Amino acid sequence: MNSQVKPDIPVIDYEGSNYQTDFWVGKGRDYEDQAERMVLDRLVPQKGTRVAEIGAGFGRLADLYLGYEQIILFDYSRTLLQEAVERWGADPRFIFAAGNIYQLPFADAALDTLVMVRVMHHLANVETALAQIRRVLHAESCAILEYANKRNLKSLLRWYVGRQSWSPNSFDPVEFVELNFDFHPRWMDECFQKVGLHKEEQLAVSHFRMPLLKKTISPHLLVQFEQILVKPGGIFPLAPSVFVKVHAQQEALPNAQDNRVNSHSINDLTQLFRCPQCETESLTQESDSCLHCKNCHTRYLRKNKIWDFKNPQ
Ligand SMILES: C[S@@+](CC[C@H](N)C(=O)[O-])C[C@H]1O[C@@H](n2cnc3c(N)ncnc32)[C@H](O)[C@@H]1O
Repeated sequence: MNSQVKPDIPVIDYEGSNYQTDFWVGKGRDYEDQAERMVLDRLVPQKGTRVAEIGAGFGRLADLYLGYEQIILFDYSRTLLQEAVERWGADPRFIFAAGNIYQLPFADAALDTLVMVRVMHHLANVETALAQIRRVLHAESCAILEYANKRNLKSLLRWYVGRQSWSPNSFDPVEFVELNFDFHPRWMDECFQKVGLHKEEQLAVSHFRMPLLKKTISPHLLVQFEQILVKPGGIFPLAPSVFVKVHAQQEALPNAQDNRVNSHSINDLTQLFRCPQCETESLTQESDSCLHCKNCHTRYLRKNKIWDFKNPQ
């Protein structure tokens, strides 16, 4: 399930996948889902003008953004976005866009809040992706980013008893299955710093991701215990999942002048998007379903409510 796209960074391709039914529905992951929601409730500002979820999949978490005036669900997989459209497409606040995080089609400083959950895990080039994320933030924006922690308790125990070949203490990411990576928290911190993202808060999640516990204790009760652990657990994360809240460092902001959206300009798609091919903010809107780049003459179409930045005309 992987393909090669410009700029030659391999991307995991969920096109045609049944991720929703294969991974979530009836698969015993209510605890993980509820724990992630509890953490996002704590980190994501409840209200705002524009929020985008990157790698939003089928829109599992989209109900958490209903306090925003505009909600963008962005993903590489049109199949999953189509499921998101079925669920959220009737709400005019939602915009759906297919594209690649390495060539984010958003204008500089266009987003107020950005969320990315269970996606870093698939990124072969974290720094390039984070640089794109920083680019689309403005001085007041925040991004809530989740990554898989290689130095988790289970992995440490497996390593110490000789049941795991790679060390959870080594800094480099481990690719345990093709395009599935776990990261060391200090390595991630270095990446945030390198691209100019300042970490405000860090919470560790899914401490109880163990089959026996999940079988014997209700997800609701596990999440109550989790609530106590997420903050202290974030100091030296040993849980399999880490959530950080970051903002763009002043000196790393893309434009001195702020591009941020307001309620008047919110429906102007030429201010929200930029051309991912030539990376200029040169789009004009030709119709409800067509954006045209004045610079490189690429056209981006909207089909079945999804803007396609993946396969332009
Ligand atoms: C494990 S799923 C998580 C979906 C959703 N965030 C959730 O938690 O339910 C990973 C998602 O990341 C998307 N993805 C992976 N690489 C991407 C890339 N380079 N650009 C955009 N989306 C990407 C996949 O298409 C997939 O929908």
